[in-house]
Amino acid sequence: ELSPIDKAKFVAARRAVDFVEDGMRVGLGTGSTAAFMVRCLGERVQQEGLRIRGVPTSSRTAALAREVGIDVVTLDEARWLDLTIDGADEFDGDLNLIKGGGGAHLQEKIVATASDQMIVITDAAKEVETLGAFPLPVEVIRFGWRATQALIGEVLVGMDVLGRDITLRMNGDAPYVTDEGNHILDLHLKRIGNPRQMAMVLNQVAGVVENGLFIDICDRVIVGHGDGRVETRD
Ligand code: A5P
Repeated sequence: ELSPIDKAKFVAARRAVDFVEDGMRVGLGTGSTAAFMVRCLGERVQQEGLRIRGVPTSSRTAALAREVGIDVVTLDEARWLDLTIDGADEFDGDLNLIKGGGGAHLQEKIVATASDQMIVITDAAKEVETLGAFPLPVEVIRFGWRATQALIGEVLVGMDVLGRDITLRMNGDAPYVTDEGNHILDLHLKRIGNPRQMAMVLNQVAGVVENGLFIDICDRVIVGHGDGRVETRD
């Protein structure tokens, strides 16, 4: 039996997989909700003989996709994708997102922006009026990360935020290292008044590889509830 939160993630994932059609090239997101989606997709491949090629957004998702029998290719082999299905950490009424809680937002953003369509799957608790309660992940080059952190702190002055704490993401005693060999800074902003401006300004800082704001990238959010209900926002 699934807990209510897992049930919510599962029903959203299962609904999203209905959008996958034979022959599609599909971007496969990362995280616990995306993992339900990869398993549901694997079932369709096994049971219906659905022919798809999947492009994973992390080493974790690649391993799971292979395990459930999905034909895994790289983004460079696929070149362009029909659809990406991924989770998120927060979404707002404009379907803008914070992603990267799982540390994979760099590959996730590359894959999502190489897709005709992006569908996000979440539980209802991730819907917010204004983004920013969830700390914003920013992937940075390891070289000089403290200087990059200080520069980010400076550009936050004068922006519409309520907090400016920046922490280095850890993995036990050592800094977390992404699939691309970088570190992640988590920006505890509490409120991001202008997410579009924030996304642009952060990516101007030397040392920043990519921030976790997804602006105008998501086309549809499928929201699952613990009682099995599913809603769609588009
Ligand atoms: C991974 O880097 C994130 O962008 C995930 O999409 C996000 O953390 C959602 O994960 P859950 O589905 O586990 O909440």
